[in-house]
Amino acid sequence: MAAPGGTGPIGPFPERVGDDAEAQADYDKLRRRLLWTFPSGLYVIGSRAGDRRNGMTAIWVTQVSFEPKLVGVGIEKPALTHELISEGGSFTVCTIAREDRAIVRKFTKPVEVDLDARTLNGFPFHDGTTGAPILDQAVAFVDCEVRQQVDCGTSTLFLGEVVDAGFQKDEATPVLRMEDTRMSYGG
Ligand SMILES: Cc1cc2nc3c(=O)[nH]c(=O)nc-3n(C[C@H](O)[C@H](O)[C@H](O)COP(=O)(O)O)c2cc1C
Repeated sequence: MAAPGGTGPIGPFPERVGDDAEAQADYDKLRRRLLWTFPSGLYVIGSRAGDRRNGMTAIWVTQVSFEPKLVGVGIEKPALTHELISEGGSFTVCTIAREDRAIVRKFTKPVEVDLDARTLNGFPFHDGTTGAPILDQAVAFVDCEVRQQVDCGTSTLFLGEVVDAGFQKDEATPVLRMEDTRMSYGG
């Protein structure tokens, strides 16, 4: 997998930066720091193909249209989630309570699935209407069918139509955002 943020200074570079390798590296770092300041949420994406299920921590998640109700998720090509969404044609997006922030750390590594206990990494799940898993502990979920996918280089943007949505905890529960953690991603 490529190093987080890419494999090295990545162009294009504005004219003022010029051809100097150090200036290009500095610009690359500045652009990463800037992109890290984009406010974002933190979610667990559920995916499934046949009997294979997965959960993955993600920040590249956003609603992209009013009608149809489309949600876009950016998934790195080497991720198992990428394979399962491509094959299964659906995904779920779970919001997580701020007090449950430990959950997202558990879903940044390969997930242990226990189909008898119905758990992902020890966290109970159930299947949504598309069949993709939803964490029982999530504050809320959207269940999406993939309508389009856009090749974005190192990742794919999957655009899914929301076919089901629901709260599982009180609607007022504060949900986890990137700034609630010390993690960084993207940039
Ligand atoms: C804070 C944070 C946010 C992340 N956001 C994304 C994301 O939006 N898209 C993505 O493809 N990977 C993201 N990742 C990386 C995946 O969580 C990680 O590569 C995971 O192991 C992939 O899981 P999988 O191979 O089981 O699908 C993020 C990691 C962290 C720590």
